Amino acid sequence: MSRKNLFIAFEGIDGSGKSTQVRLLSDRLMQEGQKVYTTFEPTNSRIGTMIRDIFSHRMAADHRTIAGLFVADRLDHLLDADTGMLKMLEDGFNVISDRYYFSSYAYHGTHMSMDWVIDANAMSADLLRPDMNIYIDVAPEVSMERIRQARESVEMYETLENLKAVRNKYMEAFEKLSGVEKVCMIDGNRDQQAIAEDVWKCVENIRS
Ligand code: ADP
Ligand code: TYD
Repeated sequence: MSRKNLFIAFEGIDGSGKSTQVRLLSDRLMQEGQKVYTTFEPTNSRIGTMIRDIFSHRMAADHRTIAGLFVADRLDHLLDADTGMLKMLEDGFNVISDRYYFSSYAYHGTHMSMDWVIDANAMSADLLRPDMNIYIDVAPEVSMERIRQARESVEMYETLENLKAVRNKYMEAFEKLSGVEKVCMIDGNRDQQAIAEDVWKCVENIRS
């Protein structure tokens, strides 16, 4: 690896605790004196905002259109000249993203051909492959309960049946790409600190 600063993508079903772990890892790296840029998909760009409008039923779109919007949102997330992930990495930041292309493979792979989704994201994979994909593995029932407790409304994809399907698709995608992608699978059905410890071990492994 020519650069030392890392690009880490967190993955998991809704409510798996990704955002929590992104924050804990970022805090720990910053305590070490490292530069860290945390980010997420769907982004806050115009394209990301359009996606959120669809998820909250302000706008209607077919699942295939949504998959296409995520392709565009991701390219913008990578290539934006000021705050794109490639620019941040070039500037020496460790970049941690809450979701990246495996989310597309899993979420859209439940509605359409996963191979199509992988091919449609080939440009992103070519531009930037994560040094590590960290999958927080939580039972869909546990995740559903967390979502219910944390929020008043549940989003488009947040039904138990769908969370189970998405988890299965994640497993299928990891299997399919096992030769090209690095994945740390972490048991997320535990308390936050225990999970954070395993995340840290995974990150230390790639740095050594
Ligand atoms: P995600 O980003 O994957 O949707 P969050 O980090 O937002 O997940 O967590 C979803 C909810 O579950 C939040 O209310 C959060 O406080 C809670 N939570 C996160 N991690 C854990 C954990 N390990 N055990 C119990 N609750 C958790
Ligand atoms: P997010 O805001 O991360 O939700 P959560 O915190 O509940 O995990 O993501 C919003 C939704 O977007 C989530 O249900 C997953 C979905 N999504 C896709 O369908 N395709 C994608 O490529 C990405 C990145 C997310």
